[in-house]
Amino acid sequence: MLLETQDLAYTYPAGKQEILHEINIRFRPGEIAAITGDNGCGKTTLTKLLVGILRPGTGRICLGGNDIAAMSLAEIGRQIAYVFQNPAQQIFCTSVEQEIGYGLKNLGLGRNEIEQRISHYLDYFELSEYRQTFPLSLSQGEKQRLMLAAVLAMHPRYVILDEPTTGLDIYRRKLLGDYLLRIKKDGYGVIFVSHQVKFIKAYADRVIRIEDGRLSDGRGDCG
Ligand SMILES: Nc1ncnc2c1ncn2[C@@H]1O[C@H](COP(=O)(O)OP(=O)(O)OP(=O)(O)O)[C@@H](O)[C@H]1O
Ligand SMILES: [Mg+2]
Repeated sequence: MLLETQDLAYTYPAGKQEILHEINIRFRPGEIAAITGDNGCGKTTLTKLLVGILRPGTGRICLGGNDIAAMSLAEIGRQIAYVFQNPAQQIFCTSVEQEIGYGLKNLGLGRNEIEQRISHYLDYFELSEYRQTFPLSLSQGEKQRLMLAAVLAMHPRYVILDEPTTGLDIYRRKLLGDYLLRIKKDGYGVIFVSHQVKFIKAYADRVIRIEDGRLSDGRGDCG
């Protein structure tokens, strides 16, 4: 299911200047795309548009050919998951298990299905021993894995991560990268924002560079 932007442009309500101009990008399932560019070039803005937290001024964002403008935040979130730069901002339950189960309950899944998915994703992200742990007491890398577990358990099509290597040492960066490869192999589309050239080179299938609010190669479809 293709995720694409068509002539996307954005100006913050309080801002005078257009931040993003004529952005045309196609994202695909089973692919890792990196979004890069200088500080303030509009990377986070672009990812917030992709998940509907911000709504485009001009242009469209389509998922499987359908304009997401017609979808609620919750409907988009079911298909396009977002992991914040600081995952602690997304955590609000009192145990790791509840954090993963929360979204699943909202999906209206039955108890057995919820329990199965919690166990599966705890295992997938090597968090089983923390099942009853208070999420905010986890390390940065573990909190990030918990958020990945919580969003993937809902079986979205895409996962977007904003600057996921922030606060991770080299070992944990590699751990994260290897998880991203695994998620991609399982058929999800992965989109991450990063400045880290090495990390991008090691894990991204393609790189989307934003310069002055435009795609530096003029198009975001190189594959
Ligand atoms: N709520 C807001 N209102 C007005 N302008 C904003 C708002 N949020 C961000 N901006 C501006 O939009 C531009 C793009 O910001 P954005 O956060 O998308 O950049 P970024 O590429 O993610 O930067 P960084 O690398 O520092 O994370 C910046 O000039 C920023 O000051
Ligand atoms: Mg940013």
